[in-house]
Amino acid sequence: MKTISPDSYAEPSWVAPGEDHSSSPAFEHDTRFQTFRKNLRGAIHAIRTHRENRRRVARGDFKLRPLVGTYYVTHRCNLKCRYCTEHYPIRDTVDLDTEGAYEVLARLRREMSAIYFTGGEPLVRPDIVDIVREARRLQFFPIHLGTNGLLLPLRDQALDYVDRLVISLDSMDAHGWDRVLNAGPGQARRIYEIIAHYARNQRSRRISILVNCVISGDSIDQAYQVMEFCFRHDVVFAPVSATSDSLPDRRLLARPDYQRLVRHIVELKRRGYPILGSKDSIETLLLGRPFPCYATSVPHVYPNGDVFYPCQPLGRIGGNLLELGSVAAAYREGERKFGEWKECWRGCALNCYVLTAYYLNHFWDQLVLESVAQFAMQPGTGKRLPAEAALEPLYEDPGTWRTVYPVDAVTAGISYDVPISQLSAAD
Ligand SMILES: C[S@@+](CC[C@H](N)C(=O)[O-])C[C@H]1O[C@@H](n2cnc3c(N)ncnc32)[C@H](O)[C@@H]1O
Ligand code: SF4
Ligand code: SF4
Repeated sequence: MKTISPDSYAEPSWVAPGEDHSSSPAFEHDTRFQTFRKNLRGAIHAIRTHRENRRRVARGDFKLRPLVGTYYVTHRCNLKCRYCTEHYPIRDTVDLDTEGAYEVLARLRREMSAIYFTGGEPLVRPDIVDIVREARRLQFFPIHLGTNGLLLPLRDQALDYVDRLVISLDSMDAHGWDRVLNAGPGQARRIYEIIAHYARNQRSRRISILVNCVISGDSIDQAYQVMEFCFRHDVVFAPVSATSDSLPDRRLLARPDYQRLVRHIVELKRRGYPILGSKDSIETLLLGRPFPCYATSVPHVYPNGDVFYPCQPLGRIGGNLLELGSVAAAYREGERKFGEWKECWRGCALNCYVLTAYYLNHFWDQLVLESVAQFAMQPGTGKRLPAEAALEPLYEDPGTWRTVYPVDAVTAGISYDVPISQLSAAD
């Protein structure tokens, strides 16, 4: 059995030996009590929102109270991933300046507690540290940051204000993945190092890391490897299939090797491995099962403050948050422009939308209990189970294992030596 110890990922070049690379000197982390209070407040807010939304749906009003806001702080990116839908955003809006971004946050905070920063690549914004600091000042909780990770060393301070870091990782085949990332050689290896580094520092930085893994027809076997990497580094595995127009690829979903992977992911979830979602929501997401979508409970805001109505995949803007003042007003404007919207069964295979069905209809099920257990109070996953379990089906199939083995070996002894000046150049 071939496994690699976590230590085989050397500390990246920006960390001097023995250096405690954790947050700025002036920064004070929350005490345990403060964290507990935040968790409690977040849970109470989620319960109230759930109840209010049940009432609204029961009376046929599908303009729901927001549970978590997704804010695309920019469309710009330092990579050009081949499958990425964000190269050509539905609307190419301009970034607000820092003050404008603060204004967006202030408006969102009046209606919701949780926020998810995404893009494009949020970390290409030089002011991203200020923006997440402002989110913290406004007492958003939890604060998620979605990133490809490459610029984290440069904007490392952002992590002082973030609760959950979501990093993209699709493959442990460094050469193959570099081709997908489409930004020259060496990027994939650097991302492995960066994730491993921050995973090791989850406790000192008080963050939990999730890895978002996009599974495509070319990377089914790699998803096992990514999962193993996640378990070995104490980070949550969040799988999703590659979508086109936000819909799953039915040919991929029908493939026996893909179905075997999904069965294995669900089985590991059953055994208690840190995988995002419930067994049911994972199957819905990965197998493209129908679900009722309540998209307005997860408002999506574009860089200029435009709010989608009801959702990003349909591409319709209700109105601008800064002009109209609130998400609720943007939804009312959307309804006026495009007509009433009801729950939708189009089946977009995106986690944020799939989970709306579970938050509304299965709130008290394991999804909530598990996510509370997964994240409450302490950083990391809180779970330590043998990582090799991720690879079990590959052991059963020597043919597959042989193709995977050399790839894993390639990533085993990497040493990274990219000077920080090169990172700045990517900005
Ligand atoms: C658009 S990116 C933005 C944040 C950041 N740049 C990153 O890559 O994590 C958000 C997530 O969407 C995923 N994604 C991009 N295109 C996709 C597609 N066609 N199907 C499924 N997921 C996709 C990315 O892998 C990433 O995890
Ligand atoms: S890093 Fe994120 S936004 Fe950039 S191209 Fe890749 S998936 Fe898209
Ligand atoms: S299923 Fe897709 S199109 Fe329908 S509301 Fe949800 S996100 Fe929008």
